[in-house]
Amino acid sequence: MIGMQDVYVVDYQRTAFSKSKPTEPEKDVFNSVRMDHALAMLIRRLVERTGVKPQDIGDVITGCALQVDENWLYGGRHPVLLAGLPVTVPSVAMDRACASSMNAVALGSLEIMAGYSDVVLAGGMEHMTHVPMSNNPHMAVNMRLLLRPEYTKYQMNVGYNMGLTAEKLAEESGISREEMDSFSVESHNRAARALDEGWFKGEIAPMEVEFEGKKLVVQEDQSIRRDTSVEQLRKLPPAFKEGGTVTAGNSSPLNAGASVVVLMSRTKAEEMGVKPLAKVLSFGWAGVEPSIMGKGPVPASTKALAKAGLRADQVDLWEINEAFAVVVLYAMRELGIEHKRVNVSGGAIAIGHPLGASGARLVGTLARQLHERGKQYGVATLCVGGGQGFATVLEKA
Ligand SMILES: CC(C)(COP(=O)(O)OP(=O)(O)OC[C@H]1O[C@@H](n2cnc3c(N)ncnc32)[C@H](O)[C@@H]1OP(=O)(O)O)[C@@H](O)C(=O)NCCC(=O)NCCS
Repeated sequence: MIGMQDVYVVDYQRTAFSKSKPTEPEKDVFNSVRMDHALAMLIRRLVERTGVKPQDIGDVITGCALQVDENWLYGGRHPVLLAGLPVTVPSVAMDRACASSMNAVALGSLEIMAGYSDVVLAGGMEHMTHVPMSNNPHMAVNMRLLLRPEYTKYQMNVGYNMGLTAEKLAEESGISREEMDSFSVESHNRAARALDEGWFKGEIAPMEVEFEGKKLVVQEDQSIRRDTSVEQLRKLPPAFKEGGTVTAGNSSPLNAGASVVVLMSRTKAEEMGVKPLAKVLSFGWAGVEPSIMGKGPVPASTKALAKAGLRADQVDLWEINEAFAVVVLYAMRELGIEHKRVNVSGGAIAIGHPLGASGARLVGTLARQLHERGKQYGVATLCVGGGQGFATVLEKA
C-alpha cells in the first residue's frame, strides 16, 4: 500500500570501533578483517535477534564515504551476499561522505513511509587503515577545483582537508583551544563512564579477528582514553596547521567499524509484536561552504526540526558527531544547546569516527538513549566533508 506509514528504529548493532593506523596497519585490531564482513555479521545478528523473515526485507542500504578498494560495496551486494540473505533481497550503496549511513537510514525510512518497503536494514562501514583518507592512490582530487580561477572561491585547498576546515571554523567562530580541549576530555570521561556502566554492551556485537598471530574477540572501542586530561591535551601540537588549535586530542581519531539499524513500518512492527526503540520523525540535509563544512549540523538540524514541527529547546537529547570538538561547540552555541544534553555517553572523539559507519551509530545510539532514559525527542546530526550537514529527528516510541 502506498501512503504515509510510521517508521520505527526497532534494533541497532555495531562493531567496536578499532583505531586505524594507515602507516602501521598491523597496529589496527581490525587489520585482519574487511568491513563488508563486519556488516554481514551485523546483518545476520539483527535478522536473528528481531526474527525478521529475510524475504520480508525490502532493502539493505549501506553507506561508506570512500568506496574504493575493499570499501567498494558493489551496489550494496557484498554485505547482502556475505550475510547469506536470499538474492531476492535488494540493496543499494550510499555515498554522502560522512553522512552516508545516516542517509541510508533516511532513504530506508522514506521507502517505508511511502509504502515501498516494510523492513529496511540501513547502515554503513569504513576501514580507515585499509582505505586511508589521505595519500590514497585510488582517490583523485579534481585539480580544476583547486587551480582554476573560477573555482578558487570554494577554497578547496582547505575543503579537501577536514582538519583545515576545522581550523577555519575555530578561527571564524572564535572558539578557543581551551574550550575544544576541555570538551574533548569530557567526551573521553563520558565514554569511559558509559563503558564502565556497560552501556556499550547494548550495541556492540563482538567480532572475532586475528591480531598479533592470535584469535581475539574485539568488543570495546579502541580510542577511549580514560587517563586523559586537559594538561595532557594542552601539550599536543597542532595537527593540521602551524600555529593552529586543532590537535590529535580535539579531533576524532581514524577508525574501522560498521553499524546497522533495523527500520520497520508500524504495521509490520505490530504484526510481529516488536517493541520499537524510537519513531523516526524527520530528516534534514543542507549544503554549506566546503571550506567550513563543520557548520553543516546547524542548517541540517534546523531544517529537520522545522519538518518535525519542533524547536531546538524542545529536544531532550542530541547526538552531534564529534568530527572535531569545534564542530559540536559551534552547533551548541548556534542552536542554544546545553552540553548536558549532548553526546551523553561520549562522542566520536573518544568512541571513534569510521566515516561511513558514524551516521547509523548516531541514530542507533540516540534511539537507545531515548528508549532507555525515557526522554521524548532527540536529534542526531553530523557535518559532512565537501560541505554539507545531515540530521535526523527521533521520538521515543
Ligand atoms: C589528528 C590525526 C592526524 C592524528 O593522527 P595520529 O597522529 O595517528 O593520532 P594519535 O592517536 O597517534 O595521536 C597523536 C599523539 O597525540 C596523543 N594524543 C591523542 N589524543 C590524546 C589524548 N586525548 N590525551 C593524550 N594524548 C593524546 C597520542 O598519544 C599521540 O602521542 P604519541 O605521538 O606520543 O604517541 C588523525 O586522528 C586525524 O586525521 N583525525 C581527523 C580525522 C578526520 O578528518 N575525520 C573526518 C572528519 S570530517
